This record gives sequence, structure tokens and C-alpha cells, in this order.
Amino acid sequence: SQASAVQRMIEPSPYSEDEYADVDWDNLGFGLRPTDYMYINKCEDAEFGQGQLSPFGNLKLSPSAGVLNYGQGLFEGTKGYRKENGHILLFRPEQNALRMKIGAERMCMQSPSIDQFVDALKQTTLANRRWVPPPGKGSLYLRPLLIGTGPVLGLAPASEYTFLIYASLLEGTAPLNLYVEEDFDRASRRGTGGVKTISNYAPVLKAQTRAKSRGYSDVLYLDSATKKNLEEVSSCNIFIAKGKAISTPATNGTILAGITRRSVIELACDHGYQVDERVIQVDELVDADEVFCTGTAVGVAPVGSITYQGKRMEYKTGSGTICEELNATLIGIQRGIIEDKKGWVIEI
Ligand code: COI
Repeated sequence: SQASAVQRMIEPSPYSEDEYADVDWDNLGFGLRPTDYMYINKCEDAEFGQGQLSPFGNLKLSPSAGVLNYGQGLFEGTKGYRKENGHILLFRPEQNALRMKIGAERMCMQSPSIDQFVDALKQTTLANRRWVPPPGKGSLYLRPLLIGTGPVLGLAPASEYTFLIYASLLEGTAPLNLYVEEDFDRASRRGTGGVKTISNYAPVLKAQTRAKSRGYSDVLYLDSATKKNLEEVSSCNIFIAKGKAISTPATNGTILAGITRRSVIELACDHGYQVDERVIQVDELVDADEVFCTGTAVGVAPVGSITYQGKRMEYKTGSGTICEELNATLIGIQRGIIEDKKGWVIEI
């Protein structure tokens, strides 16, 4: 079959230092830059099978696939880094696997096991290894997807699920200028705000597009019940810092339990900061020294300003900031430069 031919092509090519794709590694951006292979595994009964790598390409779907009609879909994001010795590192992939499993339960979907997920991630990364940037030059972003591919018409869970992973290049971001959104909510209590479902992302596009047209980089959401407390940015978590105290909104079901968020909390505690997961009132933004966002795609990204009810508040960014300190530690661990005492990184 085509897939086993691909498998044969992949296996005999050992890693070599000069085996890199033809890419300007200094200008990667976050646009889609498809790589060579994607991974696909279907679950037609209760279990996922073996799964296979195939060349990156379009999917063939029933027009009545559950994902197309009723939004049964989850995604994940994780990154592969190249270590100085040329080996490739993945960061806490089992946490993505676990989050997908929990999300699938909420969305009435079948999900791959943790081992199947991690194994698929390794296979996809290795198959695309010539796209993993050289040490110090960005990362390979891996995008696992779980979608309902079985046909449905009446509202019901799909009868078939497809787990796939594709990969794209990625580089870091500039400081963010946020706009506090009051006209739209991102999530409601007991809804799916805490789940990495595709259906949380299209609804934020309107507010995000409007904010961008006014010169902001993104939107900061408030809780839908009181409009007084911080929630998260369209696609990343938020932290505020004042002196040695760092706070981030507690995950109460409306906020995505980010893996970068959790890792930054642990690192900040290790660095001697007092870290609180709590309710943060929007009014506290006035007194904060620093604000930063965390997410797989953005990393630990400084927020330069936040505009709320016409008032623009500015924050420290750049050298000497807590954001920079935590980012350097996290990146150092992810790239294999700082010793990984927590067992977060796997070398493949
Ligand atoms: C990530 O940070 O990996 C995300 O999933 C956010 C995405 C919308 C780019």
C-alpha cells in the first residue's frame, strides 16, 4: 500500500547533521508550513488500530461527518525541539494525551490511549525530522486532532473517529497588546471553555478580528457571569505579577488547563515566587508590574499593554522581567540546555 511504501521510505534514513529542509530558519512565523508526513489512525469500533504515516495531504470526509455538522473535534498543540547533539526533544507529550482523553469524554468521542498518542507523536516528529529547526532556531509545532468522521444527521455522537497529527514550523512572538473584551464572552460556567475543542475557537474570531483592526494583538476575556474577573486570551492563558507575587486565574471549567501554564506555575514556585491560582479582578490590572501569556504556540509571551474601558495600562517587558526569566528557564528545559530535573522532556 501507499502507507507501507512511505513507512519503507522513512525507516532506512538515519539522522544526519545536514539533513534539513530548505527553509529560512530565521523567519518562520506561525503560518501553516506543511511538512512531509502526517499520521492517521481511525477508530471504527471501540478501539483505535495501528495508525499510519502518509504524505501530508487532504482528507476525504463524508459531508455528514460529525465534525463538519456538529463540531465534534478536539485539537492539541505541542512542539519538537532540536538539541545541540541533533536529537529531538518533545515536551510533556503525555499531558497533551491526557487532556485529549478528558476532552473526548466531555465531547462523547472515542480517544486514543496515552501510549497510542505519544507513540504517534514520536512517529510524526521523526518522519518530519528534517523540519525540526536547528538548535536555537524555533521549533516544529505538532498539531494532533481528534475528529468525528462517522456520518450523522440526527444530533448524536459520530460512529467513527479519526486521530491525526500534522506538523508545521513555528517561531516566537512579539509583545502582545491586549484589549479587554466586554461585548463577547468566551465561555460560560459548566460549558466547554476548559476543553480544547475546536468549537471554542471559531466564536472568538469576531472579537479578535475587531481588536486587530483597531491595532491590538488579541483579546482578553472576562468571566461571563460578572464581567469583573480575568479569564484568558483567545488562545492562551494569562498571568499577572506584582513584586514576588504571581497570579493566574484558577481553572474552574471556563479556562483552558494549559500545559505551559502548569509548567510555568511550577517553575515560578521553584524560583521562589509566590504563585496563586485564584480569581483575579480586572481592576487588579492597574497595579500589576508585569502581565504575560502562556501557551504552546506563544510560549511565555510578554504583554506590553492592556486597554480596558478606554484606559491603556502599560507593563514592563524585556530584560530583567519575570516573564523573561521564566521563559528562559522553560525554553532551556525544552531545548535540553537546562537540566530537566522534572522529567518533562523526552528524547526521541
Ligand atoms: C497552542 O498554543 O498550541 C494552541 O493551541 C493555540 C492555537 C489556537 C494556536
